[in-house]
Amino acid sequence: MTFNNNAVIRGALYISDSQISTFALTVLHYRTAEQMKGEKRDIRKPRDIQRVVNTFFRGVKKDPLLSPFFADKTKEEWATFLPMMYSFWENVLFYSGGYFGNPMARHKEMHELRNFTPAHFEQWLHLFSESIDQLYTGPHAEMMKERARNIATVMQVKLAQ
Ligand code: HEM
Repeated sequence: MTFNNNAVIRGALYISDSQISTFALTVLHYRTAEQMKGEKRDIRKPRDIQRVVNTFFRGVKKDPLLSPFFADKTKEEWATFLPMMYSFWENVLFYSGGYFGNPMARHKEMHELRNFTPAHFEQWLHLFSESIDQLYTGPHAEMMKERARNIATVMQVKLAQ
């Protein structure tokens, strides 16, 4: 008489093929969920930019140096300002074409009233990069930080003119 070892072992343990596959799938699913919790991915879609912008402005509102610039914004103004910032960054990153403002002119006006110093810009960039790093990693995440640094540099040069 010949024995199939697998069948014997499974028989002894009362494990069927389908139980083994269910177990394997459960392990696989658990690993994937665990990995996704810990591993960051790149910025890929408008929703990702919205998360970065929301995180950044949550930080700005709590920041002693930057919050005064936004202190007089009403709830309604935030509700139009944030979508404008989403469009600005979507355009900067993905050339979506949905932003029609003039940030240089707007900041020049504000600078004349309130004086943006290098310390303000440094803190702005610090919070912005921190918000990106907290949520995402990859070429787009790097590009977003780099574009912010470049725009901030140009802005400071223009404000000084
Ligand atoms: C010293 C640092 C900065 C401060 C304190 C600051 C502050 C502000 C404030 C208060 C507004 C709202 C203006 C309004 O309600 O009309 C604003 C608008 C905006 N900021 Fe800044 N900002 C800074 C740097 C930057 C940088 C570096 C960028 C881009 C990389 C940027 C991009 C924008 C844009 C796109 C708008 C919307 C402009 C519009 O179309 O009306 N800001 N900023």
